[in-house]
Amino acid sequence: MAASVTILEARLAHDGAEPITADSFDVVERELEDAADGELVVDVRYASLDPSQRIRLRPEGPGFVPPAGIVGTVARSASDRFSVGDIVVAPGSWATTVRVPAAAAERYDAPEGVALHHAVGLLGLTGLTAYFGVTRVLRPLAGERIAVTGAFGGVGQVAAQLIAASGAEVLGVAGGAEKVEGLRRLGVVGVDHRSADWLDEVDRWAPDGLHGVFDNVWGAASARLVERLRPLGRVALCGQMSGIGAAVTEPLPLDNWFRLVTRSLTIQGFRAADYAAENAEARRALGDLVVSGALDQETHLVPGWAAAGPAFAESLVGGIAGKLVVEVRS
Ligand SMILES: NC(=O)c1ccc[n+]([C@@H]2O[C@H](COP(=O)([O-])OP(=O)(O)OC[C@H]3O[C@@H](n4cnc5c(N)ncnc54)[C@H](OP(=O)(O)O)[C@@H]3O)[C@@H](O)[C@H]2O)c1
Repeated sequence: MAASVTILEARLAHDGAEPITADSFDVVERELEDAADGELVVDVRYASLDPSQRIRLRPEGPGFVPPAGIVGTVARSASDRFSVGDIVVAPGSWATTVRVPAAAAERYDAPEGVALHHAVGLLGLTGLTAYFGVTRVLRPLAGERIAVTGAFGGVGQVAAQLIAASGAEVLGVAGGAEKVEGLRRLGVVGVDHRSADWLDEVDRWAPDGLHGVFDNVWGAASARLVERLRPLGRVALCGQMSGIGAAVTEPLPLDNWFRLVTRSLTIQGFRAADYAAENAEARRALGDLVVSGALDQETHLVPGWAAAGPAFAESLVGGIAGKLVVEVRS
């Protein structure tokens, strides 16, 4: 029996229902036992920090280690499906090394020239979510005018570029000049919802109204966009960042819900997990677009678990520009 290894993990420092701040996590050293039958020990290289982790924290107490999608190198294998040195993606946690059931891990073959951290972002949950939300739910048509909220977030960046790739016109709605400039680098027209005249900009961009909204926020800005939908307009509802801090869902602050009838509007929510059977095909499609240069995701890399908690807290109030990823080992 091989010896255990010493790892670092980030643990919740208080009740999960309390606000998440820069001091909400402690980084603690502990021993991790060797892989049991059917398990892998994986040295984490990159880990994804996602808003849904906030929801997982809410019912938990001090000591809870949040889950995270990870990509890493197999350090020990007690499964005949994987060998030491394999690169895998797996459901892990906020830790430097994790033990995972081999059945939950997938071998990761990075598309040529694509940086490894994209395994947990562009080709991970955020990319897959954008892919299914755009191709299965929103289904943009060439020439349509579609707005994306949270457009410089992990999902929003990919959704905006996929909508543009479908031939529709896309407007990225984001908070602050830095994010609008980031969208411009990705070839997406952006508008800053913190500026006083942002709705005038939307109206100039879509004088006949919007055909669709890809919504990550479900907040005040989302409501103003829904009010601008044309007859038969549609919303692909991906998330509710406006309530994420407290992990509660508020009603959309829409002036008149009856416009769903008067304008024949559709609001369709979706979960990427509903399409999990198509993940491999979606990853291939996303990878092809990345390799061809048609798709990218700007990443905010944080160095290690000590820096992760403060960055995660910032992300819950819109303070991070780009997909948030922890660089655990490069
Ligand atoms: N349906 C699914 O299967 C699925 C899967 C994955 C993720 N999601 C959801 O998709 C959404 C986006 O995820 P992501 O990974 O792109 O997140 P992200 O990278 O953290 O970006 C989210 C964006 O939301 C805005 N935001 C952040 N805090 C906010 C607040 N308190 N109030 C209003 N806006 C806020 C920010 O945009 P601005 O400040 O620029 O406006 C931020 O850029 C989340 O709601 C997430 O839960 C859904």
